[in-house]
Amino acid sequence: MPKFISIKKKIDNFKKKSISMPGDKSLSIRFILLSALSKGKCVAYNILKSEDVKSAIKNLKKLGIKIILKKSKCEVYGKGLHGYKYKKNLVLDAGNSGTTARLLCSTLIDTNYSIKITGDESLRKRDMKRIIEPLRLFGAEFKDKNGKLPIFIKGTKFTKPINYIENLGSAQCKSAVMIAALKTFGITKIRSLPSRNHTELLFKYVLKIPMKIKHQKKYDLIEIKGKKEIKPFKYKIPGDISSAAFFIVLTLLSKNSELILKNININPSRIGILKILNMMGAKIKMKNKKSYKGEIIGDIFVKSAKKLRAINLNSSLNSSAIDEFLLIFLVASRCEGISSFINLSELNKKESKRLDWGIKILRMMNIKVIKTKNYGLKIWGSKKFQTNKNYVVKNYLKDHRIFMLSTIIALSLGGNWKIYDPDSFKTSFPNFLKTLDSLGAKIK
Ligand code: S3P
Repeated sequence: MPKFISIKKKIDNFKKKSISMPGDKSLSIRFILLSALSKGKCVAYNILKSEDVKSAIKNLKKLGIKIILKKSKCEVYGKGLHGYKYKKNLVLDAGNSGTTARLLCSTLIDTNYSIKITGDESLRKRDMKRIIEPLRLFGAEFKDKNGKLPIFIKGTKFTKPINYIENLGSAQCKSAVMIAALKTFGITKIRSLPSRNHTELLFKYVLKIPMKIKHQKKYDLIEIKGKKEIKPFKYKIPGDISSAAFFIVLTLLSKNSELILKNININPSRIGILKILNMMGAKIKMKNKKSYKGEIIGDIFVKSAKKLRAINLNSSLNSSAIDEFLLIFLVASRCEGISSFINLSELNKKESKRLDWGIKILRMMNIKVIKTKNYGLKIWGSKKFQTNKNYVVKNYLKDHRIFMLSTIIALSLGGNWKIYDPDSFKTSFPNFLKTLDSLGAKIK
């Protein structure tokens, strides 16, 4: 791999192009972890073959689970709720994947020996306290320094169900508690701010776990009855909207272009990006909708935007667009007027400090941005933007979404770009550059 890619030219207009996206990352990782707890052979089709998913597979193999990955088909031979087999002094490495690290811990709350969990430079900076605290209440023991990796976990055979309030709007925290509940007799109760609900849908429609879900005004109430044996299952993973988002924004900001993105997971808890862009005047359409095991799958139609308007966003859509905010900031910089966003502290807890990186990249392009109180942002947008300057993006902890964002800025706004660490996008979207190439992007 070269040290950086270089982009010197905007993308030429593309019309009537249709592309598909790799399998959803959240669902791919959940499939691996949950199928390992089933009793028998599970199969996933269109699984994402990215570094994060490979990390999940590698760790499950270390726990004695047989997994066969052929093209985009993945077979997992589950050994039941308590079937992991491993040697003493085991070390699990989740690489860059927060979802793998956090959800894997909850599958270890019943282990006999202490297991060390670690990750790469970016993951070792991220907060694990948010799952350590509830998992301790189930009875697991942790050794950690400030809630950061590496940590040690030792489980217990006598886990107890808990009552838990999830106040961050984090699907990872909610899911960690839900998975721990599977291994625990009795009823675990969760009061959770809304966040992506893939775990709930998998539990209900695929694993057939006895559970109740009630949606209240502010919170979702979830009750799970543990220790139900999970039967083997098959699952077709739909396309990832977080990957699609880069191409949606590229189309919106390029002239005379049109794109169809096929078979995308448009689960309502994930389409904050589409709602927000349409509030800004984008006119993105979702067609051919069908439901699949609780998820909603459809095709997304997007065209170059004629007129975009600034937005004053309250925080109710934050969680449903949490991985897409960098792209939303970019679009805000192209709207006439001042856009504002609030309560985005979670963005600084991702693979890199994304709120700070968003500000840094926009300022590098001479766009006026200020940080407001409560982790908010104000962006002074303008329709007219022309540049032939040189831009360099590096030292961003190889955050895949910063790499892809920078590529989309270069291809849609122009300038002379050098973007370092080009293998970073393999974390979530190994075909990213190939897909851009199919639309005619010139990248060296
Ligand atoms: C994810 C949830 C989100 C998201 C992450 C994947 C998941 O994190 O940012 O990329 O698969 O549950 P939080 O739930 O911590 O916000």
